[in-house]
Amino acid sequence: MKRIAIFASGAGSNAARIIDHFRGHAGIKVSLILCNNPEAGVLAIATREGIPALLLDKEKFFRGNGYVDELRENKIDLLVLAGFLWKIPASLVQAYRGRIINIHPALLPKYGGKGMYGRHVHEAVLAAGEPRSGITIHFVDELYDHGQVIFNATCEIAADETPGSLAQKVHLLEYEHFPRIIEEVVNLQNQR
Ligand code: GAR
Repeated sequence: MKRIAIFASGAGSNAARIIDHFRGHAGIKVSLILCNNPEAGVLAIATREGIPALLLDKEKFFRGNGYVDELRENKIDLLVLAGFLWKIPASLVQAYRGRIINIHPALLPKYGGKGMYGRHVHEAVLAAGEPRSGITIHFVDELYDHGQVIFNATCEIAADETPGSLAQKVHLLEYEHFPRIIEEVVNLQNQR
């Protein structure tokens, strides 16, 4: 059984889709939720689903070893960032290199980096007059929104698009593809 940890900071609608996708799965289990925000909806999802959750302490995350010990104690194989807003510290990247996946709500390398999350991303894409946006699923390295791209999907931007309507389109792409791509990454790792 491969064990996944989901890192999330907000509502957790992607986390909920991932949990649904792997419920009862023979080879993959969502085993732990890690969250930096005590108010985040994802914590209620963890409680509802009976999945253990860790509330991250900022000092420990950035100055300690990035919760590597806790992840190892929980025998976590893959880290999935689903709307997680803290940068992953180098100690954690090194311990889990090639085994951390992030989803970004735009077509990287544009519209990524510090401060580019959620609504800010969609506002920047519309302000630039882009004809399309989409999602990027990528491995995480030491730089923000930078590692090797695993998958992209795109959507057209309508003439009357708003940040809210674009966020909805992008979320639909995320729900459609993210759980399936996570499964593909685990399958590829199993073959190694
Ligand atoms: C998602 O759209 C995700 O791509 C984005 O935050 C949203 C979280 O929604 N992530 C980033 O912006 C990371 N830079 P959710 O909490 O409902 O899954």
